[in-house]
Parts: sequence; C-alpha cells; structure tokens
Amino acid sequence: MAEETPDVEEGIVYWENQPASYDGVLGGYGKGSLPRIESLGSRQFLLGLYPELSTVPSAYKPLNSPEHPKRVRALDVGAGVGRVTSDTLLHLVSDVVLLEPVGPFVQEALQRARASAAPESTPSANSEDRSFWPGLADHSKSVTILQGTLQEFDPLNPHRVAFLDRLGYQPPRPEDDINLGFDIIWCQWCLGHLSDADLVAFFKRSHAALKKDNPRSLIVVKENLCPDLPGKARTVFDEQDSSLTRSDLAWKSIFEEAGLKVIRQKVQEGLPGELYAVKMYALR
Ligand SMILES: C[S@@+](CC[C@H](N)C(=O)[O-])C[C@H]1O[C@@H](n2cnc3c(N)ncnc32)[C@H](O)[C@@H]1O
Repeated sequence: MAEETPDVEEGIVYWENQPASYDGVLGGYGKGSLPRIESLGSRQFLLGLYPELSTVPSAYKPLNSPEHPKRVRALDVGAGVGRVTSDTLLHLVSDVVLLEPVGPFVQEALQRARASAAPESTPSANSEDRSFWPGLADHSKSVTILQGTLQEFDPLNPHRVAFLDRLGYQPPRPEDDINLGFDIIWCQWCLGHLSDADLVAFFKRSHAALKKDNPRSLIVVKENLCPDLPGKARTVFDEQDSSLTRSDLAWKSIFEEAGLKVIRQKVQEGLPGELYAVKMYALR
C-alpha cells in the first residue's frame, strides 16, 4: 500500500494553475511529436483488441461492409482538454463521454467540441490545429462533457457530477443512454490522483459499468510507471501535484484487488528517454 496518499483538492489546484492546452496537460511536451506518437500508440492498441473499429478497408472489412452495426461508447476520464477524446477515441468509436474536474480544462474541451460541431467546421490543413473533433459536425458521432472528480463519479450514475453539454449525434430518446454502460473506459495519466482505496473503488464501479451485451468491453489504463523494487511493488509520491506514480507490480496488485484481469499489456514506444516508462493495460 502507498504510504503517502494524494489530496484531491491539492491535485486540482495544481492543474488549475497549468495552461489549458496540450502543453499544459502534457507537462511541456504538447508541441513536439509526443502527442501524435502517443495517440497513434493508443489507436494501435485499441485496434489490436477491436479490429472491427478500423475505418480502413481490408480483406476482413471490405469497402461495401456496413459501417458499425452498433454504436460503440467510450468514457474518457481525467480528460484534461479532451486530447484523448479527439485524437484517439473519436477516430474509432461513435460516442464519447468525457469527464474532467478542472474548470479551465473542461471549458477548453467544451469550446473545442462546440467549434467542431459547428456546421461550417472542417478539418484544417494545419496539423497543429487541434480544434477539429471528428464526427461532430455531421452528427455521426457525439461527445458528452461532464465536470467532476473520479472519486465522486459513478459511470452508471453520472448525475452526481455536472452535465455541461452534448455535441453531435443525439439519440432519439436521450435518457436511454444514461445507464447504457460503456464498451471502453479509457483512463490516461490521471489515476495517480487516486489513493489505492479510491482507485479500487473506482475500478469496481467501472467494471460494473462495462456493457453487459458486449463480452469484449474493457477498461484501458495508460499511465506512467516507476521501476519496481526487486520483486516488490513500489509507489513514488509527487508533492508538486499530490499524485502517486505506481510500478508495474503496484498496478497489478490494485487490478487484482478490484477483480480485474489484465488481458493485454504494452509499453508505449517512442517517448523521450527522460520520461517515466508509459504502459497500456487492457482489463476486464
Ligand atoms: C496529465 S493530465 C492528463 C489529461 C488527459 N488524460 C491527457 O492525457 O491529455 C492529468 C489530468 O487529471 C485530472 N485530474 C486531477 N485530479 C483528478 C481527479 N481527482 N479526478 C479526475 N481527474 C483528475 C487533471 O485535471 C488533468 O486533466
């Protein structure tokens, strides 16, 4: 068990004082190649688990096959300015629910999503222009934006956190989708703000919120790793943002406590050598 535990308020105050931009959520690494390399690694990882989400025709998915017979729903938690939603998830799934506690970050995500949903919105030729979120302008996809912390959030009872807006596709009966559950629950670079006990509780609520009619629904954790101690789990407390970095064994012991099995794991390649290793775990 971790000796020092994250303080929710201190974590939020830290992030409120960072710029509401890619650079802000990525600790100064937002302007180089890291965001693109990182999101391509995530998309590849998801496609390995869900080849049918591919939008590129192949022998397995001919051009004339129906798009996706069912809408695929994902949750993006600790979402910052919506980077994972726009650069990873909306390229592959139909509906994303985004949760972020920090006011300036969630407002920036809202502004980006609203700009992309405007009828005249088109992808920019400028690859640095990150305001375009796929599928919102033509209403083929949707983003629902919620404000709150992971400690208070229950994916099956989202009413406990604030609803800000829903952009893009609207279901015929919006209430139908509230308790629908998720095919993919994506947790990236934010779980260090939860104590071990809060994390186990959140994983259990998330596990209960995986779609029952999809036996392959899953939780993805993409987080920094500190090295294990010899044969032993390790956690490192960061006083600056009041968060914990966990080692591979520390993550695995928490997954086990939450009743989750690792079905695939992969280290993110191509990140700068001075950073912590980053690993993706798919859990069910
Ligand atoms: C390093 S940023 C990552 C943002 C986003 N996941 C990404 O990869 O671009 C960490 C995020 O965790 C959020 N966060 C901090 N405390 C949180 C909490 N208690 N619950 C949920 N999110 C939290 C921060 O506001 C911030 O947006």
